Amino acid sequence: MVLNAEMKEAIEKNLVFLATSSPEGVPNVVPIGFARPINDDTVLIADNYMKKTRENLDANPNLALIVADAKTFPYQFKGTVEIFESGEYFDEVVDWVSKVKDELEPKSAILFKIKEIYSVMPGPESGKLIS
Ligand SMILES: Cc1cc2nc3c(=O)[nH]c(=O)nc-3n(C[C@H](O)[C@H](O)[C@H](O)COP(=O)(O)O)c2cc1C
Repeated sequence: MVLNAEMKEAIEKNLVFLATSSPEGVPNVVPIGFARPINDDTVLIADNYMKKTRENLDANPNLALIVADAKTFPYQFKGTVEIFESGEYFDEVVDWVSKVKDELEPKSAILFKIKEIYSVMPGPESGKLIS
């Protein structure tokens, strides 16, 4: 599983939607601005305001992500997260967020390790595993 350059740009430049699920199977979806790839299979996400998203991820680390411009970038990214409230990733998020909006105070850094990428392109490729 490798994010190509187009996928990386899509995640970095778009608003993205994060879908999580409670252990009971209740779904939750939120728009997120602070998401950026940091290597070929990992996306760093800033938790500034998350509530249900964070509760869900604490209990169930599975995450799915699509970008808002799915018409141009018809990909569904799936994987698992690790959450950091201190350390290298948290410091990186604090630095990144403060440069964009000084008044924001990130609560945690969410490290999203992507394991599967599916197509959501309408047509015969829809739902197929790409990578
Ligand atoms: C355009 C937009 C961008 C947002 N970006 C972020 C973000 O980068 N980080 C964040 O924690 N919340 C962000 N939010 C807030 C979340 O979408 C959401 O309100 C928050 O996670 C609480 O919802 P929850 O209880 O379902 O997690 C953003 C909201 C909007 C409308």
